[in-house]
Amino acid sequence: MNTIIVGTQWGDEGKGKIIDILSAKVDYIVRYQGGSNAGHTVVVNGKEYVFHLIPSGILHKGKICCIGNGVVVDPQALIKEIKGLPKGDVGNRLKISSLAHVILPYHKVLDRLRETKRTNKIGTTGRGIGPCYSDKINRCGIRMADLLNAAVFKEKLKDNLKEKNEIFEKVYKQNGFDFNSIYGEYLDYGKYLSKYICNVTSLLNKAASGKKDILLEGAQGTFLDIDFGSYPFVTSSSATAGGACAGTGLSPVKIDKVVGVAKAYTTRVGEGPFPAEFDPSFGEFIRKKGNEFGATTGRPRRCGWFDSVMVSESILLNGITELAIMKLDILNGIKKIKICTAYKYKGRLFKEFPDDLEAAKFAKPVYKEMPGWEEPIDKAKNFLDLPLNAKKYVSLLRDILKVKITMVSVGSSRDNTIFLD
Ligand code: IMP
Repeated sequence: MNTIIVGTQWGDEGKGKIIDILSAKVDYIVRYQGGSNAGHTVVVNGKEYVFHLIPSGILHKGKICCIGNGVVVDPQALIKEIKGLPKGDVGNRLKISSLAHVILPYHKVLDRLRETKRTNKIGTTGRGIGPCYSDKINRCGIRMADLLNAAVFKEKLKDNLKEKNEIFEKVYKQNGFDFNSIYGEYLDYGKYLSKYICNVTSLLNKAASGKKDILLEGAQGTFLDIDFGSYPFVTSSSATAGGACAGTGLSPVKIDKVVGVAKAYTTRVGEGPFPAEFDPSFGEFIRKKGNEFGATTGRPRRCGWFDSVMVSESILLNGITELAIMKLDILNGIKKIKICTAYKYKGRLFKEFPDDLEAAKFAKPVYKEMPGWEEPIDKAKNFLDLPLNAKKYVSLLRDILKVKITMVSVGSSRDNTIFLD
């Protein structure tokens, strides 16, 4: 069984926990897009691990963990992560696609400089993601395979620096980068990573033909997708289920199911439209209660009500066959709970997220309201253990979204999860 896990909102839905649960049942776990802008926190035996690039499944003994061609790899960040892993058989279990593109120091600096020049800031993570994907599309990117061939790397880096240094000096009025220091440093990274770099595409297709189970984990979320997200306030990769095949080379006919992950409310980091956003004081309250701060940058997340317009669209475009609802416990003790079911702008009712930036920015949410529940729910093991109104909330989401809800998370640990048939 090959499964894609995808975020249905603006990322940070709690995919890390679902990936951790589902990892136990598969043979291969694969990242298919994004880079070290992502952050998954996993706690094992009281020790906290934050993963930015390596699939968190690496903590499950015997699982093969792959970084697909669709990921942009910062070798420095990756090596730091590898060194922080528990000692063991990691060397045999981590595989990096030779086709994955490399984030270089000039990508990170360009990311920050471009952001300072923009009138409408995106609020990027500053990890060089956009500039690295731009080079990929511009066909001047440097791939993991290039770090293993000194002559190829030399020529590509020289070409890149010729152009980039001119941009740094003429557009941004600052010094460019020195060829020798990047060249030496990144060749060393290549040497260190060489034992992990391989043809991940053929590995995965052979594994699928051999009836192995593969979990493809998406980073960020559907509304941060470069095509379907709230553009331009998005990341630069295909964070939707479609990206899983392009980002790994696993054939689409080998995908069996798509699991969507949605938080019981909505959050977003960075700039951009957010129709169901809370007012500042309630937003502050939920941010603290839900510890809504970025795992990568520590930035406060903006918070709002569950937006069924967005999640319905995600279900449709990702072909989501089942949905996990996360952090339901954060809504404990709230008197009135709202679900955004449409938006209104200039007399028009929107049942889909507006493509027009002005409408998306100024649209007013239309809400369905219901009473909340008082009791803590983190001890609930079954759906029936939940307070009546918590059950009603989950059932209402299921009815509005017309999707099977198979998991409800009521706390941070693996045990705080309700599984539904
Ligand atoms: P970039 O991916 O660093 O270019 O950032 C583009 C947008 O995506 C910004 O609004 C970021 O805050 C957002 N973003 C990127 N990665 C994540 C993530 O893992 N979770 C939530 N938001 C993210």
